[in-house]
Amino acid sequence: MKATVVTYGCQMNEYDTHLVESQLVSLGADLVSSVDEADFVLLNTCAVRGKPVEKVRSLLGDLRKVKAQRPLVVGMMGCLAQLEEGQQMARKFQVDVLLGPGSLLDIGAALESNERFWGLQFKDELHAHIPPAPTGKLQAHLTIMRGCDHHCTYCIVPTTRGPQVSRHPDDILRELDSLLTAGVQEVTLLGQNVNAYGVDQGARLAGYPTFAELIRMVGRSGVQRVKFTTSHPMNFTEDVAAAIGETPAMCEYIHLPVQSGSNRVLRRMAREYTREKYLTHIEQIRRHVPHAVLATDIIVGFPGETEEDFQDTLSLYDEVGYDSAYMFIYSPRPGTPSYTHFQDLPREVKTERLQRLIVKQKEWSARKNAAKVGTVQQVLLRGDAHDPAFLEGHTSGNHPTVVPKALGADRPGIYPVRIGHATPHMMYGQILGPDGQPLPERPRHTPEAAALSSPLQMA
Ligand code: 5AD
Ligand code: SF4
Repeated sequence: MKATVVTYGCQMNEYDTHLVESQLVSLGADLVSSVDEADFVLLNTCAVRGKPVEKVRSLLGDLRKVKAQRPLVVGMMGCLAQLEEGQQMARKFQVDVLLGPGSLLDIGAALESNERFWGLQFKDELHAHIPPAPTGKLQAHLTIMRGCDHHCTYCIVPTTRGPQVSRHPDDILRELDSLLTAGVQEVTLLGQNVNAYGVDQGARLAGYPTFAELIRMVGRSGVQRVKFTTSHPMNFTEDVAAAIGETPAMCEYIHLPVQSGSNRVLRRMAREYTREKYLTHIEQIRRHVPHAVLATDIIVGFPGETEEDFQDTLSLYDEVGYDSAYMFIYSPRPGTPSYTHFQDLPREVKTERLQRLIVKQKEWSARKNAAKVGTVQQVLLRGDAHDPAFLEGHTSGNHPTVVPKALGADRPGIYPVRIGHATPHMMYGQILGPDGQPLPERPRHTPEAAALSSPLQMA
């Protein structure tokens, strides 16, 4: 069987795709990269906003046409599969296999079945499951928990991924070990709300560390770099900031979604913290992690958001001075409390506010990135850039970075790089040798390479 998985959505979905791909390989499938070559196409779906849902609908429509012409098994997994909205689509577009986020290990049973197979239960063995180590990649995801116990009024995730279940620390450390053996240098710890690790449905689990303790344990494993996502300010503690500060492997990139700067809106979102409390966390992070690179998520145009509320979001942005932000227009999701109880704002109001926020984000990113020019950053170069004379990767502060390949430094790895030039979205630099001087660049011939290198030479 030739199989391909098309992934939408967040890093949790990327991890699940890897898990299911590993299962498929162990079942004897060949993984192929395009839908055209595959006889099993599995869509790993996202339901958090309307846009990714529409993308799935459109691909399912195309696949139904392909199915009319040749034998093809179509599957749907992930968050949308768990919802009535997704199941209606599955019926309409003749989906053969449907797996909710808690039933991924049913993939084997699903493919053996001669009839339509729907798995929608949350199964416990998923939490102990260890996917085979990836081959040759320097970066990997590591799920530490699944599900979410919060009920932010806009969010469909607690419905699709169920209540929070923390993985046992032994399973996490075993999986980490196998990643390190496979040569992984950077691990991202994943969960809907990593700060609540070890406290499921309000109860502290015996024998489980807190998230801060888990950071320290992971830091002692010998891994070179660790990041995490995503974290809820409500469960953030000063000890987490302290653990990041004292663990050399922890990247200084910290993503703390605020969603809004207005207390009135935060209350309607049921975020369970205030602007003031959030700013206390930022102050603690800055104290323990002086070079922290701060990122956030913001929703604009939440129902009932006034111009004054939006101004509070803009002023919070200035008060924190974020390095980067993921910004979203509020998208009403059927099944969420805000969809049922609140009136959506007009589209023009939402898009106009988003545009103003993007202007602010660009100004701050430009200012923050410009301040890095001249500094030396440890950059994880994961492979060739679009132009193979260059390598691309990211700093420990998660800034996308491009460098020309240098003599003796043309392979993936973590290298010291002096930043020579920065835009709001990208940094350019040169790899340094042991003497702190730039290594000689590898000769290159293409005109594109010459054009790309010019900003470096200006700097
Ligand atoms: N509309 C817009 N953005 C949303 N997010 C979650 N639900 C919605 C929604 N209904 C955003 C939040 C969250 C990120 C993953 O997606 O900002 O942090
Ligand atoms: Fe959604 Fe809130 Fe859970 Fe994040 S913490 S997934 S925003 S409910």
